[in-house]
Amino acid sequence: MKLVLVAACALLDVDGRVLIAQRPEGKQLAGLWEFPGGKVEPGERPEETLIRELHEELGITVAEPCLAPLTFASHAYEGFHLLMPLYVCRRWEGTPMSREGQALKWVMPNRLRDYPMPPADEPLIPHLIALM
Ligand code: C5P
Repeated sequence: MKLVLVAACALLDVDGRVLIAQRPEGKQLAGLWEFPGGKVEPGERPEETLIRELHEELGITVAEPCLAPLTFASHAYEGFHLLMPLYVCRRWEGTPMSREGQALKWVMPNRLRDYPMPPADEPLIPHLIALM
């Protein structure tokens, strides 16, 4: 089975809210909410992926020491197995904004269940609630 590596990041603001993004129309799992991030390209470390993706998707600059690994998701989708480390980041430069047309929302971790997420992302929620 194909293994897909995706890096994801929980950006936490000073109020303890986490940023989620809605997968746009036309993509697999469209309409579901996810933690920002993306596929780890060959030769990349997940931290490098996140620095690249957070800049592309949200226009923010993240310094590598600000990315702290929290946990990872592992989920068998039809046709591939997803392995997804989740990082936490509390400091970045710039204001996150939608650069790819995706809706963004700042949500308290204990309200994340109000937003339908891909099955790989859902088990990550308790880890974020535990940070509160
Ligand atoms: O974002 P992208 O479409 O490149 O991700 C590849 C696949 O990984 C998605 O089709 C989806 O099945 C899965 N994924 C996920 N949770 C995320 C990001 C991606 O389950 N936060």
